Amino acid sequence: MPTTIAAPKKKAARAAQEDFLPLEGTDHIEFYVGNAKQAAHFYQSALGFQPVAYSGPETGVRDRASYVVRQNKITFVLTTPIRAKHPIADHILKHGDGVKAIALKVKDATSAWKETTKRGGKSYMEPKTLTDKQGKIVLSGIHTYGEVAHVFVERDDYTGPFMPGFVKWDPSFRAPETGLQHVDHCVGNVGWNQMNPWVKFYEDVMGFRNILTFDDKDISTEYSALMSKVMSNGNGFVKFPINEPAEGKKKSQVEEYLEFYDGEGVQHIAMATNNIIETVTALQQRGLEFLRVPSTYYDTLLDRVGHIDEELNALKRIGILVDRDDEGYLLQIFTKPVEDRPTLFFEIIQRKGAKSFGKGNFKALFEAIEREQAARGNL
Ligand code: FE2
Repeated sequence: MPTTIAAPKKKAARAAQEDFLPLEGTDHIEFYVGNAKQAAHFYQSALGFQPVAYSGPETGVRDRASYVVRQNKITFVLTTPIRAKHPIADHILKHGDGVKAIALKVKDATSAWKETTKRGGKSYMEPKTLTDKQGKIVLSGIHTYGEVAHVFVERDDYTGPFMPGFVKWDPSFRAPETGLQHVDHCVGNVGWNQMNPWVKFYEDVMGFRNILTFDDKDISTEYSALMSKVMSNGNGFVKFPINEPAEGKKKSQVEEYLEFYDGEGVQHIAMATNNIIETVTALQQRGLEFLRVPSTYYDTLLDRVGHIDEELNALKRIGILVDRDDEGYLLQIFTKPVEDRPTLFFEIIQRKGAKSFGKGNFKALFEAIEREQAARGNL
């Protein structure tokens, strides 16, 4: 069996007991972008995020501007440097727009930093307390793959819109929400033979477990092969699949990412919805572009996944994929990259019991990705 579910009950119980890094979910995701003002507008107008907070020269932060946007439990921070000689400018020159930090909500950011650095995590930010009239926030952080960081955010004693240093951002423009609810998982692309070292990092440093494994036989089309292991924290709120390229006839989609991102980084962020048909219809109407599979995908879909609540024609019209596992089914669809570089993209997912990641869709999906790679001249 190429796919293994490695979650013996005893091991899970022990892990929960000994969770030295209790996580309450994703606090926010910070992107470094070339133009935060315009990026914020994209996330509002195309994806339905709402303006929350702002930090920049007008609030006393002289070297950068950050816009915080939110939809239900998903918070994005879009940050840009406002001068050329700046580490964030170097990051953007190298990688283009991309994810800098996956911030995780914790009860105790000092303990999170101590426990992870004690186990070999490289410090990104020593614990620091930020205060203003609305209370205090404690931040700390460690490095992960590429230039990505995990920031630990302790915010139980804070009532402001985001954090000290930010002011409420309340523009008159408000785009309707699209039903995006929470971050389901964040996927990292790492280099050749780097998947297992990063799996070990998440196990040793953060106490995660490997809950699913896909080898190159699961994830290989004629050309584009990759391997992936899904890492999950104790309570399952935070899941990080890690991909590495595998040998195929031509260039792996992970290799294309590594080349254009100029290094390891976040490949996609999956956002959950309670009604994928409504959400994706709205996103498409607002101009978000999605990968399409051939309509023949739907000819045998119901034979493969059995009964589903949704109308097949609606799924076919919008291009939504379906997969089933032992516990239920899931519906998913992937955007095209949201930058000109073929790097970060988004997944929209609705889970109806299934806890897996859509393995049954890999072939159709990767063939669609290869058509895009070929169109870019990168296959
Ligand atoms: Fe995914």
